[in-house]
Formats: sequence, structure tokens, C-alpha cells
Amino acid sequence: MFASLSKAFFHALSGSRTLKTLASRYGMRRPTSFARRFIAGETVAEAIEAARTLEARGISHTLDLLGESVTTLDGAYAATRDYLAMVDAVVQAGIGRNLSLKLTQLGIDADKASAIDNLRRILERAEPAGFFVRIDMESSAYTAVTLEIFETLWHHGHRQIGVVLQSDLRRTEADLQRMNALGARVRLVKGAYREPKAVAYQGKADVDQAYARMLETLLSQGNYPAIATHDPAMLDRAKRYAREHAIASDTFEFQMLYGIRRDLQTALVNEGYRLRIYVPFGREWFPYFMRRLGERPANVMFVLRGIAGEK
Ligand code: FDA
Repeated sequence: MFASLSKAFFHALSGSRTLKTLASRYGMRRPTSFARRFIAGETVAEAIEAARTLEARGISHTLDLLGESVTTLDGAYAATRDYLAMVDAVVQAGIGRNLSLKLTQLGIDADKASAIDNLRRILERAEPAGFFVRIDMESSAYTAVTLEIFETLWHHGHRQIGVVLQSDLRRTEADLQRMNALGARVRLVKGAYREPKAVAYQGKADVDQAYARMLETLLSQGNYPAIATHDPAMLDRAKRYAREHAIASDTFEFQMLYGIRRDLQTALVNEGYRLRIYVPFGREWFPYFMRRLGERPANVMFVLRGIAGEK
């Protein structure tokens, strides 16, 4: 109940222009600014630096150039060009090759066919260079179309791509069977969007139970699944299930978000598990940042202290 209220509250605030202007002014301007806790920086060079630091700690990464809800074709082309430039920059930097992107960033709201073309252009440059490209999952309005596009690309022979499934959606257990039958690589998350009751569980216990069931299905039947959570109960459950079913620790990976539960990140690596960190960067960081606040209202105090310190 509280979780869904806070998601709703921060969803509403994320539409505020004043707040966005204020956050943009104070959030990233110094290395100590508050948004830098969750966002690696505004430039690809800063993201690459963050990635190098992770690699030095034995942690993998996936780079996400922030941006979503693009409504014009020009905006979508611009995002595509930025992704292509990022592929080149990552190759040149010699760091791990793994990207995450969003279909609304590539223009799915403007024109579906153009968004698919944009994604294909990125894949045509990224896949031969050895990249893995994860298509993030957005709100439930995009679930069906995202899976449909993923399957079309899969049937056209793209294999270095993966999807994300959200345990808060009622449809997801069926989607998981569908993705496992394909042999697709799935990242399992709880779901970051405010969703209506008709399509999503509203209580945290239901979302957690669905997550627990699906992580077991994924570990036993999935193709190199990504268990993406900071929830210690889910991490323990995955570790226990893998141990009890003799599932080797190099056949799956844990994933976490940049700046969240760094204590658990270090612990997982020390225990010998594979860990990948989602490294978001770019100028369009506000909606991503607001979702992180909505997940944990205690973060608001952290931000307020940051703003007070900045002025
Ligand atoms: P839960 O919300 O129960 O939190 C468990 C614990 O984690 C908390 O008690 C707290 O300690 C810590 N924690 C969680 N969120 C925090 C925060 N914001 N700040 C500080 N501490 C926090 N979602 C989506 O809809 N589509 C997507 O494509 C993705 N992609 C994605 C990639 C990766 C690598 C991760 C880890 C997550 C996503 N998500 C996502 C987000 C996901 O849906 C979910 O909102 C968050 O991971 C929070 O849920 P937890 O599983 O961590 O559990």
C-alpha cells in the first residue's frame, strides 16, 4: 500500500517542471552533488570512468544512456546517434561491452517502424563488436509491444539481445514461459512503474512472492538469467536455490543499480558471484532519478541534505 502510494507520489512529482529545473541546477554540478549517488554523470566519458572503477572491483556493467518518452522522430534519431557514438566510445575505451536501452527513447511513441529501424541500426553496429544489448521494460502500456519487437528481432537471428520481465505484472509468469521457450536471456526485476490494479499486484508481498517463484523458474530453465534486485531475501533465495539444485554460479548473474546497496554489491563479489551494475548516465536523468526516490522515500532526506549543502 505505502509502496504503491509513494510510487504514485513520485510519479506525479516527476511531471513537475519546477522540480526538474531545480534538480537539473543542483543535482549533478559537482562530484558531490546528490544525483551523482545514482547517476554516473552526464557524459559518456564519465560513464566509462564509472565502468572502469567497477571493473577494477571485479564487477561487470551495463551502460544506459538515459532518455525516455521521446515523442518526435528527430528526437529518436538523435538518441540513436548518441547510442551509436556510445558503442564507438566503449570499443575505443576497451571496457566491457554491454548496453541497456528503452524503446520509448528510440521513438516507439512516434512511430513503431522507425523505432525498430533505430534499434536495428544500433544492433548492426553493436552485435558484430561483441556487445550484448538489453531492452529495458517500461510501463505496462509497452509490455506487449516490447516483447513482440524482441521476438521479431530474435526470429531475424539477433541473439545478443535480452529482455526484462517485471514480477509486479500479473501476465509475467506466462511471459516468462514464452521467453524461456525461446531461449531468451531475461533480466528479472520487481517493476519500477506505477501500474493499475487490473494488470499488476499492488501489495509488496504479492510482488515479492511472484519474484521468488520466477527466480527459481529462471535459474532452473532460463538462459543465463539476470536476477536484478537489492532485496537480501531474494538474493538469499537465489543463492540457496542454486546451491540446492547444483546450478553453477557462472550460469547466472546478479544485477543491481549504480549507487544502491553498495554493501551487498561488495558482499556478492566477495562470495564469488557474478555481479553486473546498471550504470545510467546522460542529461535526461530526472525521470530515472524520481523512480529511485519513489522506491525508497528515505532517499528524499539524502537529496534534501544534498540540496541544502549545495546552495
Ligand atoms: P525492493 O524494492 O523490495 O528493495 C529491497 C531493498 O533494496 C530495500 O529495502 C533497500 O534496501 C534497497 N533499495 C531498493 N531500491 C532502492 C533505492 N531506490 N534506493 C536505495 N535503496 C533501495 N525496473 C523496470 O520496471 N524495468 C527495467 O527495465 C528495470 N531494470 C532494472 C535493472 C537493474 C539492474 C535493476 C537492479 C533494477 C531494474 N529495475 C527495472 C528496477 C526494479 O524494477 C525495482 O524498481 C528496483 O530494483 C527496486 O526493487 P528491489 O528488487 O531492489 O526490491
